[in-house]
Amino acid sequence: MIVSLESLVKVYAGKPPITAVGGIDLRVPQGGIFGLLGPNGAGKTTTISICTTRVLPTSGSVHIAGVDVVRHPALARRNIGVVPQYNTLDRSLTVFENLFYHCRYFGMSTQAARERSQKLLEQFRLSERADARPFALSGGLAQRLLIARAIAHHPAVLFLDEPSAGLDPQSRIAMWEAVRGLRDEGITVLLTTHYMEEADALCDRVAIIDHGKILVEDTPENLKHSLGAKTIYVLDLSRSEGIDALTASVRALPGISSVEATPSGLRVYAQSADGLLPALVQTTQHHGLRDISIQEPTLETVFIHLTGRDLRE
Ligand SMILES: Nc1ncnc2c1ncn2[C@@H]1O[C@H](COP(=O)(O)OP(=O)(O)OP(=O)(O)O)[C@@H](O)[C@H]1O
Ligand SMILES: [Mg+2]
Repeated sequence: MIVSLESLVKVYAGKPPITAVGGIDLRVPQGGIFGLLGPNGAGKTTTISICTTRVLPTSGSVHIAGVDVVRHPALARRNIGVVPQYNTLDRSLTVFENLFYHCRYFGMSTQAARERSQKLLEQFRLSERADARPFALSGGLAQRLLIARAIAHHPAVLFLDEPSAGLDPQSRIAMWEAVRGLRDEGITVLLTTHYMEEADALCDRVAIIDHGKILVEDTPENLKHSLGAKTIYVLDLSRSEGIDALTASVRALPGISSVEATPSGLRVYAQSADGLLPALVQTTQHHGLRDISIQEPTLETVFIHLTGRDLRE
């Protein structure tokens, strides 16, 4: 395992103290894209900050490529590239210099640093902007430069904290392509996101995090299949009396795997989409059926199933 977290805890002092990370165990295999998916305040940035030696844990440990990041932070940083949640480019330097001085900082000779910087400018299609200042770059270009700088010293693992926050859709797709390219080079990528579509489209494995704890960890496919449903019917009902009896009647219909009562009606998990709609309409006719929407399982529905909450709330 290239990254492993053991019983990781972070409590921020204060009144009251805040448990940002509440005991996380996580193993990230080498060579893929791993996503930490969770809502605002789940503890994603804190977890990444501990892994990248920016924040000390309260207890527990993190090993990256076998190196304990708390005991040997300087050594660990050689294996780590970081793109933080907020732009940290040096605004007094040009695009080229942002790369060049990063390489020098990691011990490359002037010649080697120059060559590496040129190569990265080409790889990330930034050559034409080599002499620009960071403030003159669009959000998408600044993000590409941050990624280029993060991998300049050939780290084994790249950490990306909310890489698509604030990007327009086109820049987001370009960023995904860049990240896939890094995976093809053999770099392990660990990213955080609160966009379930991003986790689904980009990540080989996903851990869902909420309130400082990992709820589940698997491939996006397996997570979606874990609901045991091919189709989800969301029923909007105007009358909530007798909802328990209704839930039981719906559950008794053929092909239903589970039924949950929600504040506005029912959520029905079905094994297939065949023939259920008329049966659902008929069964719920005395409850003021206002609307039915039909969904396929997504990571969002997995999150709702696990927490009873919407990822976007
Ligand atoms: N330096 C700090 N001091 C005190 N509390 C903090 C600090 N940093 C984070 N927290 C708290 O810890 C919890 C986890 O925050 P964290 O930033 O790790 O979450 P996140 O998943 O990255 O959220 P977001 O989606 O907003 O980036 C939150 O309740 C936050 O308010
Ligand atoms: Mg964050």
